[in-house]
Amino acid sequence: MDNEEKSLNTIIRNVTDSDAFDIACKILQDGGLVAFPTETVYGLGGDGLRAESSEKIYAAKGRPSDNPLIIHIADISDVERLAREIPDKARTLMEAFWPGPLTVILKKKPEVPDTTTGGLDTVAIRMPSHPDAARLIRESGVLIAAPSANTSGRPSPTLAEHVIEDMNGRIDMILDGGPVGIGIESTIVDMTGDKPVILRPGYITKHMLEGVLGEVSIDKAIIEPDPNLRPKAPGMKYTHYAPSGKLTIIESADESDNSDNSDSSHGSVSQAVIDRINQETEKAEAEGLVTAVLTTSDMADKYTCKNIITLGESGSGTTVAARLYAALRECDKIGAEVIFSESFDRDELGFSIMNRLLKAAGHRVITV
Ligand code: TXA
Ligand code: MG
Repeated sequence: MDNEEKSLNTIIRNVTDSDAFDIACKILQDGGLVAFPTETVYGLGGDGLRAESSEKIYAAKGRPSDNPLIIHIADISDVERLAREIPDKARTLMEAFWPGPLTVILKKKPEVPDTTTGGLDTVAIRMPSHPDAARLIRESGVLIAAPSANTSGRPSPTLAEHVIEDMNGRIDMILDGGPVGIGIESTIVDMTGDKPVILRPGYITKHMLEGVLGEVSIDKAIIEPDPNLRPKAPGMKYTHYAPSGKLTIIESADESDNSDNSDSSHGSVSQAVIDRINQETEKAEAEGLVTAVLTTSDMADKYTCKNIITLGESGSGTTVAARLYAALRECDKIGAEVIFSESFDRDELGFSIMNRLLKAAGHRVITV
């Protein structure tokens, strides 16, 4: 990033500091940018109804401006300020999962600037459950457009330290609310058509959505990479979350189509996977490369690599999701040049975890 853009004196406050919210609210009301915690990942917030604030967001992230932002609200009634139609099923969805890690796509009102929606006729809306996020929206009176608070392409921030790494000097303020709970971004559901479509998988799974909506489909373009399919959430087409080193997922042959397990857990990691990861890292180390292995804490002692980076516990998708992005950033911290990861069952939350991990790996998978 060039130095010219890195010239702001970023204010950093803990959410418990007595002046934190007063300063943050004033900045948002003046059209500036404040990073803040949500239950999914840290967001980079600006006034969603002001084109110039959205432009600042794109600039701070180095994000292409055709990649629209999510507007965060504090009350369901705020949807009426943004959407020109609210289908019954969309209402059902909001009532079931808000506040929480769900983003709904609706047809936008003209008051929502095209800059915020990347030129689309639709708008993404989410009501976060994180108390500090809700407080910031309420006290500022601003409907906050917020992408994840990372530099475009890097893993989303799950700690204020990650936001500081990427955004110090580029935005007005960072509100430190400690580690986030969930660790991967909200589920995005398009409610503008006849049938609900998942555009980005997240903590709220297809199964949970179907419990209240009936049949829900998944945007085909996000299931398998296919150059002929264009994801309906523009952001899903970009490379994402990638550490600087080359990440490869090692998976056992029967793991990739194992989707009938009830918990989003580790596929029983086979000895073949462990052996292959050890072979690959030993080979890379012999070539003098800095290597790392991504695994769960209970499997860590199976590997010979000296840099083991753990992702929660096997059998617990929520602990894996919570650690995923921090682990990818740790790969960069230690300067890992080659990284090997185990694979996870693609059921329930595991589907969302694998969506992120496959992107981080540029879909490099070795099946053994
Ligand atoms: O959990 C989250 O959703 C976090 C926190 C901060 O709320 N936010 C987040 O925003 O992940 P971002 O900008 O990193 O991702 C937003 C995604 C992008 O893939 C974007 O293309 C898609 O939402 N999106 C936004 N508006 C859309 C629209 N009108 N139609 C389709 N996709 C849209
Ligand atoms: Mg993002």
